[in-house]
Amino acid sequence: MTTQKRVGVIGWPVEHSLSPAMHNAAFRALGMDDWLYDLVPIPPDILRQSLRTLKDEGGYVGVNVTVPHKERVLPYVRPDDRAQAIGAVNTIDFRGYKATNTDVVGFMNDLAAHDIDVEGASVLVIGAGGAARAAVYGLAEAGGQLSIVNRTQERAQRLINDLNIQAQIVDWRSVEAVQPALIVNCTSVGMWPKVDDCVWPDDVSFPEHVTVYDMVYRPQQTRLMTKAEARGGRAITGLGMLVRQGAAAFEIWTGNEAPVDVMFEAVEAALRERAE
Ligand code: ATR
Repeated sequence: MTTQKRVGVIGWPVEHSLSPAMHNAAFRALGMDDWLYDLVPIPPDILRQSLRTLKDEGGYVGVNVTVPHKERVLPYVRPDDRAQAIGAVNTIDFRGYKATNTDVVGFMNDLAAHDIDVEGASVLVIGAGGAARAAVYGLAEAGGQLSIVNRTQERAQRLINDLNIQAQIVDWRSVEAVQPALIVNCTSVGMWPKVDDCVWPDDVSFPEHVTVYDMVYRPQQTRLMTKAEARGGRAITGLGMLVRQGAAAFEIWTGNEAPVDVMFEAVEAALRERAE
């Protein structure tokens, strides 16, 4: 059997990506035996020519893009409004070099899957990096009342300016006044192996009955989530966002509806394997 259609993830390094497991499981489940998703390590200095080679000689339909290429790739593709505003691309379709950022739809679809309605709700976003930009874009579009707390305040201000959205910047001393219905951790604090870290300072009281969405998915129960639950709140791991951003990319490349349940199982199995 020959592989005719390739997709993959470009990054430097890319070894730890869960995407091959997720996408290849989806191809198998749908009987798409001529599709393959693989890891494509590309050093930054040859990014532009590598894109051409993948498209013209490698048989790639498209790619996911991860660090450190998410921003650097912008001049070489045709980003949609979303990717342009966020300033980062995570999915390229080589047919037309169309590029987008499926983290937005991945995140918003996962909120919807958990019956979380953002419209008019007070939402506290923690962080102001690339992940936060995607979240804020989606939350603002959905009509959330946004507050942003970030270690580096200027970065939060830049985010607001670049995305041209309404949001207030708060610091940890004034965060209690926000009274959020939803808190979204868009930092990597608490991620394995530093699982005892928590982005919420110990000397700041945690609100009661609030929903926390933690983009960290390894571990699937973070200290921040435990904190929310201890105060009568609800906690959601970011695993669903990972799967749903992948599902959106899958649909762009293949035109087929992504088997989300299969992709969930594959990611969970891959994470279990890594824990062993
Ligand atoms: P990503 O693309 O995953 O969002 P990033 O652009 O490097 O990654 O952004 C990381 C985010 O996590 C930022 O908001 C960062 O805060 P700064 O803007 O102040 O750097 C935040 N972050 C990372 N480590 C942190 C830590 N130890 N404490 C608090 N915030 C942290």
